[in-house]
Amino acid sequence: MRMAGRRGIITAAASGTGRAAALMFAREGAAVCVVDRDGDKAEAVVGDIRNAGGNAFAVGADLSDDAAARDIVATTVREFGGIDFLWNHLGIPGPAAVEDLDMAQWDSAIDLNLRSQFITTGAALTEMKKAHRGSILFTSSVSGLVSSPWSPVYGAAKAGIIGLAQSLARRYGSFGIRVNAICPGPIDTPMLRVFVDRPDQPHTKGMDVEDLVGKVATVTALGRVAQPEEIARAALFLLSDDASYVTGIAMPVDGGMRA
Ligand SMILES: NC(=O)c1ccc[n+]([C@@H]2O[C@H](COP(=O)([O-])OP(=O)(O)OC[C@H]3O[C@@H](n4cnc5c(N)ncnc54)[C@H](O)[C@@H]3O)[C@@H](O)[C@H]2O)c1
Repeated sequence: MRMAGRRGIITAAASGTGRAAALMFAREGAAVCVVDRDGDKAEAVVGDIRNAGGNAFAVGADLSDDAAARDIVATTVREFGGIDFLWNHLGIPGPAAVEDLDMAQWDSAIDLNLRSQFITTGAALTEMKKAHRGSILFTSSVSGLVSSPWSPVYGAAKAGIIGLAQSLARRYGSFGIRVNAICPGPIDTPMLRVFVDRPDQPHTKGMDVEDLVGKVATVTALGRVAQPEEIARAALFLLSDDASYVTGIAMPVDGGMRA
């Protein structure tokens, strides 16, 4: 098992890729703290993990709250006796507007795509430094590598996440801590539907949301969107010892979208 004895956190883990990863990591022997704003759905994921013989617990937390973002690390350490991995998977689509952007929306997008991740990571680093080992992963996006015409704010935040991951990799490498970013293309989750079906984008107005998802699929080389498990497998690689000499990278998992 590739995560035997490893204890850690996955955020936004009640749905989509985070949920797939929580189930997969637990199957691989990890003890998983399943964090999500939707506490009931997080509990359901934990139920599925336990029914399969795995070890997990749920925390219902809105990570826009600084204290909540910090506390999930202490809670995990209390429950499991330590923390070996952290996957900051949370992110929100961000507003489409630019010229007429309500700056409260800017704040919210930056808070949930950068700030909360920074706070949780700071708390985890304190613990990982003591243990002199750890692995941290941030979810960026192809939007962080190339662009996000859907939401330039999202593009800025996701590029920022890569800068943060690479800076932390250099700063904490000598403590035995690896830090990477993963950059998915389109994934078959509820969030993809929010991305493509924006009421404030006139050129998609009135189009069927599944037709829009089909259009996005055509910009990948593989001609399809990813299944959540395909992203979770790449995250498993980066967070496990399989990637023991991999740090400071921004790994595209994008079906050849940028090729
Ligand atoms: N879906 C895509 O096409 C795609 C592509 C590239 C990157 N990403 C990234 O993947 C991550 C999201 O993943 P997904 O596609 O699995 O999404 P998803 O829609 O399946 O799940 C998002 C989860 O985040 C939770 N959440 C939302 N706000 C929260 C908050 N304030 N506090 C705690 N939890 C909160 C929701 O309850 C939900 O369970 C984001 O970082 C996103 O930027 C997604």
